[in-house]
Amino acid sequence: IQDVDKSWDDEVRQLVQTLPKEESWIGGGGGSLYLYQGFWYIARYLKSMISFQTHFQAFDSDVLVASCPKCGTTWLKALTFSILYRDRFARDENPLLTSTPHQLVRFLEHDVYADNPCPDLENICVYKPRLFGTHLPYASLPTSIKDSRCKIVYICRNPMDMFISLWNFTGKRRDQNQEPPLSLDEAFDKFCRGVYLSGPFPEHVLGYWKASQEKPNKILFLKYEDLKEDISCRVKHLAMFLGVPFTEDEERQGVVEEIAKVCSFENLKQLEVNQKGLSRAGFPRKDYFRKGEVGDWSNYLTPAMVERLEKLIHNNFDDSGLVF
Ligand code: A3P
Repeated sequence: IQDVDKSWDDEVRQLVQTLPKEESWIGGGGGSLYLYQGFWYIARYLKSMISFQTHFQAFDSDVLVASCPKCGTTWLKALTFSILYRDRFARDENPLLTSTPHQLVRFLEHDVYADNPCPDLENICVYKPRLFGTHLPYASLPTSIKDSRCKIVYICRNPMDMFISLWNFTGKRRDQNQEPPLSLDEAFDKFCRGVYLSGPFPEHVLGYWKASQEKPNKILFLKYEDLKEDISCRVKHLAMFLGVPFTEDEERQGVVEEIAKVCSFENLKQLEVNQKGLSRAGFPRKDYFRKGEVGDWSNYLTPAMVERLEKLIHNNFDDSGLVF
């Protein structure tokens, strides 16, 4: 097995040498970013991502939470988990009270396939149907996901808020690594060029957006801002899409509001499990909960930055029917 691992490592090392490369946002031990299949990844993830692409066999019943980083992944994982499995645990014993959303809904390419090219997926998923997370773009998903009837819920966010979230998140990691800060200007330029984990944003979003238009029963496309505006309505919609709509009894008993409350920013942020320790990717768990607001970009971006991003949004999304 070690020999197989070694030749596999050599293959990835050779591949990495052929790819365009840029400094990552976190510097230090964070490694560089490499452009692979049109998107940026760190080398460590490339290996497990290729294992995932090569070996993963989707079931029709699988559910996948997909997103670009910093667009509300943690929130959507918590909501999907709570909706899908609500009849498996007592109402006051939601596993989210003692485990992080990322432990309960694990990333396939960063986590599940990180230690083992053929992980035991049956044991990894305690509850059925199986539920996983991914930051991979739609085009790079294994064909069995695209060809099967498994469902995908995707979340995106206004790119200005996403950028500020990403800059703050990675900035804390630079501090931790005793790296000098990445200036807002430098980060902004990288962002506009699409150079960040799973970037560029427009291609990521449009991949899922177009697929959701073609296959509305397979892919549910959500926006962070819409969840913020009316969470009860979105929770009901999500349950319907997942094939587990709330019964009248459940609605009368306030189950929808209860799920929204357990998964809320205010609740998750204060839980001990989300305050202490590090995520699988090495980030302090508390850093996944910063402000949880819409429009925080206005506290950071200069008018020139806003203009450049608005142009980018206009150029990429105007013909798509997708509005930010
Ligand atoms: P901010 O940095 O703007 O606060 P991801 O989960 O994809 O990494 O996205 C992180 C962003 O979602 C952060 O945004 C974080 O605060 C916010 N977030 C995390 N949990 C949330 C929740 N339950 N409700 C709303 N926003 C949440």
